Amino acid sequence: MSSLDAPRVVLVGAGQMGGALVRGWVDAVRRGGGLELTVLEPNFDQGLAQALESVGAVLNPPDQGAADIVVFAVKPQTFAAAAESARGFIGPGTIVLSVMAGLSIADLSRTLGVERIVRAMPNTPGQIGRGVTAYVSASACSDNDRALVEQLLTPLGAVEPIAAERLMDVVTAVSGSGPAYVFLLAEVLAAVGEAEGLERDTARRLARQTVGGAGALMLESEADAATLRKQVTSPGGTTQAALDVLQAPDGLAPLLRRAVSAAARRSRELGKPGGG
Ligand SMILES: NC(=O)c1ccc[n+]([C@@H]2O[C@H](COP(=O)([O-])OP(=O)(O)OC[C@H]3O[C@@H](n4cnc5c(N)ncnc54)[C@H](OP(=O)(O)O)[C@@H]3O)[C@@H](O)[C@H]2O)c1
Repeated sequence: MSSLDAPRVVLVGAGQMGGALVRGWVDAVRRGGGLELTVLEPNFDQGLAQALESVGAVLNPPDQGAADIVVFAVKPQTFAAAAESARGFIGPGTIVLSVMAGLSIADLSRTLGVERIVRAMPNTPGQIGRGVTAYVSASACSDNDRALVEQLLTPLGAVEPIAAERLMDVVTAVSGSGPAYVFLLAEVLAAVGEAEGLERDTARRLARQTVGGAGALMLESEADAATLRKQVTSPGGTTQAALDVLQAPDGLAPLLRRAVSAAARRSRELGKPGGG
């Protein structure tokens, strides 16, 4: 195993999430960051393979050997096979980082026979480095392990430690599934604009740019969401008329509460043995 100044990192699965992670790691190596990269992936995107080779990464090597950290970014249903193909990289001192939904620290420990495990939940804006990844670490993890994991998750965007694993179902329902709620908002806003008389493509462009622009403004601004909302709301104006409907007792809050509760419930069901 190499020193933690230049940790030996093995990524298993370079699809959407794994690809976004490893592209960030390639950039880090180009900026002089010390990472020794190995990637296991049955179907490499050619551009990614070239980028990896340009920084000395090793792709699908026949020889294994314990790594400092093994990152699993395959679909949960292919985890058993992926665990087999990565077994030779996992020794007693190896940290395991999983971004796979629904697999608990206990599941990972049972299959892989290790204790230093971090379970993370990213979201799709991570593909452009604007996501948020929440993670929970096993009690065997040290502060150094968490620091390394946070560093490795940074290419996906913000990173948030979570205190207890039971909260990962809520995290899944809020930030994991959350981008879909926002995309739906854009879809519904466009459909309503069209129903009110706008030409379809115009309505779609207005809705898309409004949702994307509001999100970007919120990320760039120091102000919180409520302050930004108040800044577009003049008393007695048009926005206020809409917010009176959205903030009514039967408005957006109870609807979203039901939706998020349903997602959290489903996450708990999927996490139970045989729940898929
Ligand atoms: N995408 C998201 O928004 C999101 C959000 C939160 C969590 N996650 C989690 O992230 C994980 C990955 O999701 P994804 O969307 O990135 O999936 P994905 O695009 O399908 O990527 C998985 C990659 O792993 C490869 N693979 C399959 N079996 C393998 C093996 N035995 N060894 C090495 N590589 C293998 C797949 O190759 P093939 O295509 O050839 O099978 C694929 O390229 C999932 O567990 C998901 O729960 C994703």
